[in-house]
Amino acid sequence: MSLLKIATIGNQVLRENARPVSREELAGREMQLFIDDLVETMRDARGAGLAANQVHRPVQVCAIEVRDNPRYPYKPNIPLTILVNPVIEPLSAERFTNNEGCLSVPDLRGEVLRHAEVRVRAWDRSGHELDFAARGLSAGTYQHEVDHLHGKLFVDSVSDSRTLTSWKEFERNGQAAFVERARALVARFGS
Ligand code: NI
Repeated sequence: MSLLKIATIGNQVLRENARPVSREELAGREMQLFIDDLVETMRDARGAGLAANQVHRPVQVCAIEVRDNPRYPYKPNIPLTILVNPVIEPLSAERFTNNEGCLSVPDLRGEVLRHAEVRVRAWDRSGHELDFAARGLSAGTYQHEVDHLHGKLFVDSVSDSRTLTSWKEFERNGQAAFVERARALVARFGS
């Protein structure tokens, strides 16, 4: 396995609409090794998720995992999930204000409105159908990653640019209030 290079904002690969993956391509050794590298790179960079176009490969594959993440200490754990050709749809009209960061947008965080409950349909890395609901903060994580596959970064969804902060300023000024809101959301949705 090897670590992949992470593209940062301004690189056009982050703006590409990732192409769908066929079952044959997914089953191939090359794609399976790529998925191993994607996971290793996500873990090394301590991301909560990583989409393939963030590592210069615009295919519809993303990895999500939250395991007591020090970058996001308030995030509930999510077991390692690989989504191939994912489709997300809202399950209710409710939205919440999430505070997001991204490995492709170094040292910036901002507030983004996200659906509180979504349905996620995709294949897993073996090509098996996944169909599940994600709620609360975890729903925000899924939406962030799937946005990447459509060439969208969280900064595109920040409606008030005054909420943008460096990580240092977030820890100093915004984190306490956000963690309180996040806890209430997690208590309500269980995730
Ligand atoms: Ni991201």
